[in-house]
Order: sequence, then C-alpha cells, then structure tokens
Amino acid sequence: FPPSDIVFQHLIVHKAAQLKEKPDGTVLKFGAHTTDHMLQIVWKEELGWMPPKIVPLEPLSLHPCAQVLHYATECFEGMKAYKDKEGRIRLFRPDMHMNRLARSVARLALPSFDKEALLRCIEELLRVERDWISDVEGFSVYIRPTVIATQPSLGVQQSREALLFVVLSPAGSSFFSASSTSRLAPIKLRVDTQNTRAFPGGAGDRKLGSNYAPTIVPLLEAAKLGCSQPLFVMDDKYGGFVGEAGTMNIFFLLRSGQDTMELVTPALDGTILPGVTRDSVLKLATKIQGLEVSERSLRFSEIEAAAGQGRLVEAFGTGTACLIQPVSGLLKESGVMIEVPFDSKAANDAIAAAPGSLELEKEHVDRPGFNL
Ligand code: COI
Repeated sequence: FPPSDIVFQHLIVHKAAQLKEKPDGTVLKFGAHTTDHMLQIVWKEELGWMPPKIVPLEPLSLHPCAQVLHYATECFEGMKAYKDKEGRIRLFRPDMHMNRLARSVARLALPSFDKEALLRCIEELLRVERDWISDVEGFSVYIRPTVIATQPSLGVQQSREALLFVVLSPAGSSFFSASSTSRLAPIKLRVDTQNTRAFPGGAGDRKLGSNYAPTIVPLLEAAKLGCSQPLFVMDDKYGGFVGEAGTMNIFFLLRSGQDTMELVTPALDGTILPGVTRDSVLKLATKIQGLEVSERSLRFSEIEAAAGQGRLVEAFGTGTACLIQPVSGLLKESGVMIEVPFDSKAANDAIAAAPGSLELEKEHVDRPGFNL
C-alpha cells in the first residue's frame, strides 16, 4: 500500500457503552475533566496514517522505550470550541491551530498530516461529545490535539511510528481560579531572570511539551511568593528582554504621548509562541484609534521606567486556555512589587460592549459553525 494521509472518510466510531457523569459546570478547574471519547490516529512510516478512530477515552499502551518517554518527542495544540446562539459549534480559528501543529511536528521530524482531514475528524469528535458542550456564555470545550513519537528505540533518531490523539476537556471562563464567575480577577507575575523558557535558535516558537515541563519549577517559585505565573525576562547580560508570562503571551499598554498609547508585545523572534489569542488581540487592537500596536523586542527596564513615570496603563496575558488575563502586579526579584493599574469595571464594560464594536475580519474568524 502506498503511504496515505489522514482520510476523514475512513473514520471509525466506537461509542462508549457507559458515559461519565458530567462535572459541575460552575466550578470547572482547567484540564481536570475529560469527555467520554478520544480520537486516535496511528502513523507508521511504511503505511502512512491509518484510519482515524473515535473510541472511548482509554489509557494508552506504550512500549517503555517509546521515544516520547525518553526524549520528549511530543507536541500539542490547545484550541477551543464554543456553542453559538444558534446552537452550532464554532471552532475558534482552527486553521491557525492546524498550521501551528504542522510547524510543531515538523520541528520534531514527526509526520506531516492533512490539516483539513484532521479538522473534520475533530468536528466529528465534537459531534459525538455534543452533550459536553455547554451553551452557557464563556464555557467551551478545550481541544487538545497531541502527537507523540511511539517507536520503541533508545536511539535519538527520527521516529518511524507516531500516534496523533485528541482529547477534549470542558472549560469554564476562568483559567486561574476554579470559579467560573471570576473571569477578570487579575493576577500577579513574578519577574524571573534566573530561568529561561526559550532562547534564540531554540524551539520556543513551537508548541512542544518540552517547552513546558521546565517551567513548573519557576511556576512553583512564583506561587511561593503569591504570584500566579513567572514572567520570563532574559538576564541583563542577554539583553533583559521580556519573554512570556508562564504559559501566556504578555501585553503591556503604555501611555506614549498626551493622547496616544502603545500596546506592545514581544515580537515573534523565535523565542515567542505565536499565540492565536495574541494574534487576535493584535488584529483587533489595530482598529482602536489612537492606539499604536507594536510587536517588538521589549526590555523589562522599559516597563519599569514606564511604571515609574506613571505610563504603565495595563498589562495582560493571552492564551487559548486563559483567554485574556489581566495582571495587577509584577514582583521583582528584589522583592519590590510594580503595581499595574487594573480597572475592573472598565474592563468588564469593554467586554460587554466588545461583540458589537470590535470583530475580527471574517477571514480571521473560523470556518462556518457546524450543526450537531
Ligand atoms: C493554552 O493556552 O492553550 C496553553 O497551551 C496553555 C496550557 C499549556 C495550559
């Protein structure tokens, strides 16, 4: 047989005989629950992608020498599906997620795949799991496509076998707190110049599991100091550049003149994950009059100076999981807290007004919603 790509028409569906009890939707902790089914697609070098399968969610059986277990040959995506007012399912910018997954697998020499076919399989998984998709505002299903290298071999080499799987997790509107009502509760970041998430020439711009595991210790250190995430800043000897805020992209709103503001986020220089929410914020922000929108390299000293001059107006993180996360303080290693203004009423009013006033251009939104 010639190697084949993912073929949606070959999708096999085995439904679970028994379904799980659904969790309380008002107190969903991020990532704590999975739905009843998963998508699995096996790849073998000599055969290509095997028929996709939707099966009851089950533990994976892996050889102890599977490459993923030794060399972290793994990448993933985090995307979301919502139910719209008409009851259709809407994937948020799935094309961007598929393109990013394709770039991640390429970095790991894992097999390329037909993005449209994978999206159709994911849509089918969402149809099977329709009862998990709440139509309460702000609720979504977090979709986690993952690709792992499964070839049993202790050699550091290109894997001849892989598994692509997709699990779904119901998500509330808040990432940092289990309560679904505290959507805009601001968090504090711990400025961290000791730990580096990504470096020039590395793989910080791809969504690899190996970019996340080493951030857990910095996260724990931040938590000990009452902060929710680290803000990775290069040591001064490497330029003092701002990177990411834990698992989020970071934005700062700076007053730049009498009537002008600059919304700035670090440029995609290879060390920054090209966030889909980041991109949406940038596209929307360019529509705001008097706002200069910049992607550029940003030294932390600049933020500090702006704060000192009363020009730091706002800061927030972005990510698929956390959406937009306001920041109210930056804790420096000296122990000094840089307070960041946060006007919760203004932010909530802006959100309430947003759907009508600011919309992504059609080509940036998504494919049409689909019916269940
Ligand atoms: C996302 O926002 O989708 C992320 O990847 C964060 C996740 C690692 C918790």
